Amino acid sequence: MKIRKAVFPVAGLGTRVLPATKAMPKEMLTIVDRPLIQYVVDEAKEAGIEHFIFVTGRNKGVIEDHFDKMFELDATLAARGKKAEQELLAQFQPEAGAMSFTRQQAPLGLGHAVWCARDIVGDEPFAVVLPDELVLNSPGVLKQMIAAAEALGDKANLLAVEAVPEDMTHQYGVVGVGERNGKVFAVDGMVEKPPKGTAPSNLSITGRYILQPEIFKILETQEKGAGGEIQLTDGMKKLSESQKFYGLEFEGERHDCGSRAGFLRANIAYGMARPDLRDGLLAEMKKYS
Ligand code: G1P
Repeated sequence: MKIRKAVFPVAGLGTRVLPATKAMPKEMLTIVDRPLIQYVVDEAKEAGIEHFIFVTGRNKGVIEDHFDKMFELDATLAARGKKAEQELLAQFQPEAGAMSFTRQQAPLGLGHAVWCARDIVGDEPFAVVLPDELVLNSPGVLKQMIAAAEALGDKANLLAVEAVPEDMTHQYGVVGVGERNGKVFAVDGMVEKPPKGTAPSNLSITGRYILQPEIFKILETQEKGAGGEIQLTDGMKKLSESQKFYGLEFEGERHDCGSRAGFLRANIAYGMARPDLRDGLLAEMKKYS
């Protein structure tokens, strides 16, 4: 199964980290020295994704600018002989035509956001990547998923999952566990934000999915679910009546950068993973411990 396209839903309001996100998209929050969105695009690139589809909303134009070529900046850096900085920018420059942007005009939920990408995705399996969840690992989660999906046959759907403490399952989509083969298992039931004490397991859906295009027809008529939103999990549950769904317990540590604590932790984790910053950061942190 070849996965060429990835959908990045970036229309969310980022209310969990206000006021940082009042005028700036949460996807542009910086972890160390690059915005969240850059990390997930790089993760997708590493996994072999060729086309990057952003479902944006109002006030998200800066995301498009971030991936554009900036002639003035480039010319100024060239004139000043700043080769390293020029190379850094070039490294992040997507190929012309490799990105598409479409708008979710109202915040109707993740299922609706994914549906907004239907025409750009077309009739092929695709990935969905939620930018506020970062996983620090090499290979990245999406690469691990695409490798696992190869073995699952052409019409399979695959979800990245991670165990969370029982008292946190109500914050996520949660899957039931069927037959297991190592880190991959057949999904046996899914529920979005189950009330406390009712989750089918402690395995939560992390923001990485490989889905078949048949999901779009279902999302088109999907009714509102948890939180009054059109939920992707509900659409997947419906699709699981006719197609197989699997879960992958991936390698790596998940950081929920849409929350204050997760965002701070991610900055520390990603900073510590950088050889050029590690020692200095460690020395600084000791002062505050
Ligand atoms: C969304 C999904 C949920 C998933 C979560 C991962 O929820 O609906 O199933 O577990 O992302 O972050 P949200 O965080 O948008 O409430």
